[in-house]
Parts: sequence; C-alpha cells; structure tokens
Amino acid sequence: MSEQAATVREYDLFTPEAMASPDAFLHRVRAESPLAWLPRLDAYLLTRYADVSAALRDRRMESADMSRTLQCLTPAEQEELAPIRRSIEMWMGHTVPADHVRFQKLLKRYFTPAMVDRLRPRVREFTHELLGAVAPKGQMDVVHDLAYPLPANVIAEMLGMPVSDREQLQAWSRDIIPVFGDGDVQQLRVAQRSIVEMEDYLRVIAAERRRRPGEDVLSTFMAAEAEGVVTEDEAVANCVLLLFAGHETTANLIANGLVLLFENPGQMTRLRENPDLMPLAVEEMLRCDGPVGVIGRVTTEPVDLAGHPVPAGKHVYLALMAANRDPAVFADPDVVDIGRERSRVLSFGMGTYYCLGAALARMETDECLRILLDRCPDLRPAYRTPDRQPSMPIGHRLGSLPVAF
Ligand code: HEM
Repeated sequence: MSEQAATVREYDLFTPEAMASPDAFLHRVRAESPLAWLPRLDAYLLTRYADVSAALRDRRMESADMSRTLQCLTPAEQEELAPIRRSIEMWMGHTVPADHVRFQKLLKRYFTPAMVDRLRPRVREFTHELLGAVAPKGQMDVVHDLAYPLPANVIAEMLGMPVSDREQLQAWSRDIIPVFGDGDVQQLRVAQRSIVEMEDYLRVIAAERRRRPGEDVLSTFMAAEAEGVVTEDEAVANCVLLLFAGHETTANLIANGLVLLFENPGQMTRLRENPDLMPLAVEEMLRCDGPVGVIGRVTTEPVDLAGHPVPAGKHVYLALMAANRDPAVFADPDVVDIGRERSRVLSFGMGTYYCLGAALARMETDECLRILLDRCPDLRPAYRTPDRQPSMPIGHRLGSLPVAF
C-alpha cells in the first residue's frame, strides 16, 4: 500500500467551508485522502478521476437504490410509501442487473442519433417560443422562463403528450425530484402522489399508442410489450424515470452554463465571436459545473478503492465534480477555457449506467444557448450574486437567474 493510501481521513460535507466552496473543499480532500470517510453519511467518498472512473466501470459497485432512503422510515411509513417503492424498483439502474440490461437494450432502440436529429428542430422552436414570450419585457428569470420549461417540453414531446399538458409535467417533475433527498416523509408522500398520477396519465397514452404507434418513447415501449419484453407497469415507471433523469439535470446545465459565461466575460466574448465553439463550451460547462455532482454506489463484494480494502455492503459516493477538476487529468482545472481540447468528462457517468440522454442534453443546451446569445446581444446578469442553493450531499443548483437583455 502506498504512503498516500495509508490513511482514510474523515470529512464533513456540511461544514460552512464545504458548503460555501465545494470545489476548493474537494481539491483538499483529493490531495489529502483519495478515499475519504464521511461519518455523517456513513459512506466513503472518492474524488480522483482515476478512482472515480474505475468505480463507475466496476460491476461490483451497483447503483445505490431506494432502500437507503426508506430504511430511515418507520414500518407504518414504509407501508404507506409502498407504491413509490414498487415504482422506483422498476426504474432502470434501480433494478436487478438483468432487468437493467433488458431496459437499457429497449431504450437504446429509442435513444438514437436519429432521435436527437428529429428533436433538434423542435428544441429550436421551443427556445424561440419561450424567448418570444419574454422578449417584450426585456428581462426574464432564465431558470423559470427558459431552462426549466425547455427540457420539460422536450420530454413531453418524447412521451407524446399534448402541448396543453406540459405545465402539468413540470409540476410532477418538481414533486418527484426530491425523491432521493434526505428521506423527508412529507416530500416522499408528495412525490408518491405525483408518480401515481403521472403513471395513470401515461397508461392512457400507452393504450392509444398500442392502437396507433407514433415516434415517441411510449410507442417503443408498447412495441416491446407486444413482443413480451416489457410490461405496462415497467413502461410507465421508466417514463417517470426519464422525467426524473432528464429534466432538472438539463435545466441546471443550461442555467449553470450561462452563469459560467457571465462569470468569465472573456469566454463569453470568445463564444459570441465564434459560435462554432459551442459544443466545446458545453463540454466545459459540464466539466466545471455539471448538474450531477456526486452519484451513489453500494459495494456488492469486497473491493479495493484508492488502495484500500472496502467490504461489501458499503455506500460510496463518487464525486464526478471532483474528478472533473482533477489536476492529474485537466491542466489548470479551475480555469474556464471553452477551447479546451475535448476530453472525457465524467458528468454523464461512464460504463454500465452511462447516461442514455447525454447526446440529447448536449444538443438541447447547445441549441438553447446559441439561440439565446444570438437573439440577445446585450444579455446581462440582473443579480448581484448567483442564487446558488445547496444540493445533497454536495454541490448546488440555481434557484433563479434573473437577466436583462
Ligand atoms: C445535463 C443533463 C444530464 C446529466 C448531467 C445526466 C447525468 C447522468 C448520469 C451521471 C447518469 C449515470 C448515473 C449513474 O451512474 O448512477 C445518468 C444516467 C441516465 N440518464 Fe442522464 N443526465 C442528463 C440528461 C439526461 C436526459 C435528457 C435523459 C433522458 C431524457 C437522461 C436519461 C438517463 C437515463 C435513462 C439514465 C440511466 C442509464 C442507465 O442506468 O443505464 N439523462 N445521467
């Protein structure tokens, strides 16, 4: 064992230091203790790019499931929340590995480059529509008026929902997002009500798609149902997962990405002068402020992490945000450089659970920011400091983003 791996130090992610400057805090943890122990979360933490990417590919580390949230509840609460558990246990990534492979194969029929191309003009139309609605005011809250509605509209389109129901989708999303939070019973009750409502709603669309298939994901599911590959319950549960996985994440990338440009005016000018840099700029936004800061895993067998033996049944947080700023992989990791050579950021994960929506999210962010910068040459922040709100267990999301143009 190397000297560096000799000790596993303890850290607390909820100190004022860690919460105020998570990136600086994680730099310190990475340098001091590549495998760290978080007593308050009863979990390990990995921060180096090499260790995080190895753990993402390691099949002895499974996606952390719902049981951790539910185990803090009383037996009566657990019974009350049985429907949410049943549904989430069907979400890909939260199932047994064989079902995960089955759902992944099935969804890959839908998540193709052709699907991204098909949605691109719709993303442009939605962006223009949303900007058109606020244009007369010369100001907007990017989070509320653009970043949240855009990916919700895209998911509604994917699900084959009529335009009139799109606001409902955003409301469901708001309720469902906290489902893996701190196990607050009231929040879980609200999430459960919305999941059940959304699933009932989707069953109606599913029945229609059985009769008349379209190009949406429910049609893909219903074709697979006819082949005996998936049940209706699994189909609607995994449509809810798509909302959970693809809405707030993409919204945060758009909003965080814009803040990054505001905070680095030289990069904003560079991008305005050369819009073809947008794909690389999106990679830099993912690297510097990706929406998913950490992901959880559970060891299913004894493993070796950063040179330390870790037994089975342990929770491990993989800090994607720390890996993406590892100086061993990214030169000057805290410098925002939209011309940085494209490298393998870990913001969409890697290996078994790699994000199915990565190409879609990149396209949405690219198109949205391109149109925004093009239509608003005088776009400027209308806040003193960004409205960053802490997210569990470390990192942040934007509560609002007022701008003028
Ligand atoms: C910027 C936006 C996004 C980010 C940062 C993101 C990030 C991630 C990450 C880190 C994972 C891996 C989780 C793990 O390893 O446990 C993941 C998985 C997944 N994402 Fe995304 N995601 C985004 C957008 C989307 C979109 C738009 C969709 C679809 C509408 C989507 C669908 C999925 C699905 C289905 C999985 C599960 C894959 C599997 O288990 O095989 N994501 N995402």
